[in-house]
Amino acid sequence: MSAASVEFELTDLIDFAVNQGNGVKGLSNLGIKTIPQKYILPPEDRLNQNQIAQDESIAVIDVSNWDDPKIAASICEAAAKRGCFQIINHGIPLEVLENVKEAGHKFFELPDEERRKYLKENSPTPTVQLKTSFSPLAEKVLEWKDYLTHLYIPDDESSKLWPSVSKDQVLEYIKWAKPIIRKLLQLLLKGLNVKKIDETIESQLMGSLYVNLVYYPICPNPELASGAGRHSDISAITILLQDDVGGLFVQGTKADQWIHVTPVKGALVINIGDILQIVSNDRYKSVEHQVTVNGRRNRVSVPIFVDPAADTVVGPFPEALESGEKPIYKHFVYSDYFNYFFGKGLGRKQTIELAKK
Ligand code: OGA
Ligand code: NI
Repeated sequence: MSAASVEFELTDLIDFAVNQGNGVKGLSNLGIKTIPQKYILPPEDRLNQNQIAQDESIAVIDVSNWDDPKIAASICEAAAKRGCFQIINHGIPLEVLENVKEAGHKFFELPDEERRKYLKENSPTPTVQLKTSFSPLAEKVLEWKDYLTHLYIPDDESSKLWPSVSKDQVLEYIKWAKPIIRKLLQLLLKGLNVKKIDETIESQLMGSLYVNLVYYPICPNPELASGAGRHSDISAITILLQDDVGGLFVQGTKADQWIHVTPVKGALVINIGDILQIVSNDRYKSVEHQVTVNGRRNRVSVPIFVDPAADTVVGPFPEALESGEKPIYKHFVYSDYFNYFFGKGLGRKQTIELAKK
C-alpha cells in the first residue's frame, strides 16, 4: 500500500487505520489524494457555508479577577444560554499551552510503529491509549481524527509509562488547569445554590480527568469529511485548548446555524457537558458542537474532559429542585452513561435522552 492512489477495500481500511492503529495520520502518510469512502459524509451531514452564523459569536470572558461577581454572573449566564464560552487571562503561562500542543504534533509525527505502541492492546498502561475516529466499530462514517488519551489519576504511578514526548507536557498542563477547573465548578455550583461545594466538586464532578491530544491531519477532501460529528460532551465540563487553525463550531441560536469558535491566542474554550446539564436539572445546557477538517494544515486540540469517577451516582442535585421543580433525569451510575456513549456512533444529544425520567 504505497501508491498515491490507494484504493481500500473496507475491510483493509479498517484493518489498516483501526486494528493496526495507523489511524488517519497513517492514511495521510501514504499520500492519498482522495479520502476513502468510509470517511465521506452524506451531503445532509456536511456543514455548509450558509449554515455558519454571521451574527453570533462565543463570549470571551476575562477571568483575571475570579472574585468579581460580574465575572461569575457572565460565566453562569453563558453556561445557561449557550453552554460554551472562552476564558482569557486565566493565569496558565502561554509556554505551558504551547508545549502541550507541540506534544500533540510530536506524538503524531512519530513513525507509525512508534505511535502504534500505544494502541490499547500494546499500551504499557491502560491510562494512555491511541485511538482513531470516535467509535470506529460502531460508526457508519469515520471521523478524520486520531487522538492519544491520557487518564489522569492523582498519585497514580502509571503516568511514568506515558510517551516521553507527551508525559511532562500533559502533567504540567493538568497541574495548571486543575485550579481553573475547580474555580469554574465552584462558580457554577454557587449559581445553583449547592451547599457543600468543595465536597461535591471532588466527589461528584471531577473524579476523572481525561486529557486528549487530538490530531486532525491535513485532509485531501476537507469538504467531504468531518473531524467530529455533531455531539455534546458527556463530561461535567470540558476545557479545550485549540491552535490557530480553527474548525470548531457550536450550535447557534437558530436551528441549523453554527457559530465558529474563533481561535484566540492563550484562550481556553469551556464547554458545558451533559453531566452539568443533568445535575442542574437543565439550568445549564450542554452544547452541541462539531469539527470541520482542513486541507492545508494539521490541527491539534487538547481537551480535558472533567468527568465524574466511574462509580459515581449522578442525578439532579437537591438544590436544583428546591423551588419545587420536578427532576427531569433519573439517577444513574456514570460508567453506564460513559459506556453507552462510546458504544454507539456519535449522535447529537442522544445520550442525555436516555437519562430522562
Ligand atoms: C471533542 C471535541 C473539539 C475540537 O474532542 O469532544 O469536541 O476542537 N473536540 O477538537
Ligand atoms: Ni466534544
